[in-house]
Amino acid sequence: MEQISDIDSATDTSRISISAHYTGYIWYKNGLSHQQFVTPMGRAAYWALRPMNGFMQLMVGASIDTFLLQRHFVLDHLVEQAIAEGYEQVVELAAGLSSRGYLIKQAHPEVHYVEGDLPGMSARKAELLDNLGRPAGHITQPCNILDESGPQSIEALLDGLDKTKKTLIITEGLVNYFDLPTIRKVWARMAIAMKAFPQSRYITEVYPKLEQHPSYKYVQVAQKVVGFFTQGEYPLHYNSDEAMQQGFLEDGFAQVNVTAPEDYYGKLDMPTSSRQSLVRLVVADA
Ligand SMILES: C[S@@+](CC[C@H](N)C(=O)[O-])C[C@H]1O[C@@H](n2cnc3c(N)ncnc32)[C@H](O)[C@@H]1O
Repeated sequence: MEQISDIDSATDTSRISISAHYTGYIWYKNGLSHQQFVTPMGRAAYWALRPMNGFMQLMVGASIDTFLLQRHFVLDHLVEQAIAEGYEQVVELAAGLSSRGYLIKQAHPEVHYVEGDLPGMSARKAELLDNLGRPAGHITQPCNILDESGPQSIEALLDGLDKTKKTLIITEGLVNYFDLPTIRKVWARMAIAMKAFPQSRYITEVYPKLEQHPSYKYVQVAQKVVGFFTQGEYPLHYNSDEAMQQGFLEDGFAQVNVTAPEDYYGKLDMPTSSRQSLVRLVVADA
């Protein structure tokens, strides 16, 4: 019995879930989400972080919210691109209070969209979607990315899907809450499980450790603030695009493309930063 509770506490990362309230509010405030996904906690966190955002804007040339919005816009674009390429099943892990699934289902009712998150957040999201009138083919499912087996593992979630369809997995605002060895283990498991589909792709954002970046010391301050809010660490991963690409290839992905928000300036209508961006977008085909 003692052993079971030890395992549970090792994989219980629900402390991170508070961050979904914040990002949920940012998406709404910038016209990217439905009001239904706003929570009082998200609103309060927004006001609490406003001074920090002002400081970052001054020192880094962009606020935390700019980097959040850049990643969200580019991820939306990459998902739309995949759907245009025939991806019919989309799995959004750690979907939180994002309304991406809701909006994609409105634009593409034929897409089968599964939102996975920890049980508490997943139940909350299920209720919100039900209140909005959830269409067929929009599923919420408890999933803990750290579970290597069992009903809430990524493997179990993927196993429940149609194996004849091109399948896309997305994570947003998740991977930097884990140290690199931990999240690489998840990526390697994902790459194996994704091989069950005729074609499969994983899309995520990664915040790299750009020690040479002129704003690195302010990034470290932001890291500490995020860590304080979520009662944990917020480690940055890889110190170059090449190292990031190589890491994903070693984790079992066959083709990996790393881009930065700057690559989409002029193509996507999104906020820009005056200095080199601090987030990267990874598209990894299994
Ligand atoms: C910063 S929020 C991101 C939410 C959403 N993707 C967005 O960008 O607005 C992080 C999310 O990760 C989820 N999460 C934390 N640990 C997790 C785990 N082990 N497995 C799956 N999801 C997890 C939290 O519940 C939360 O919804």
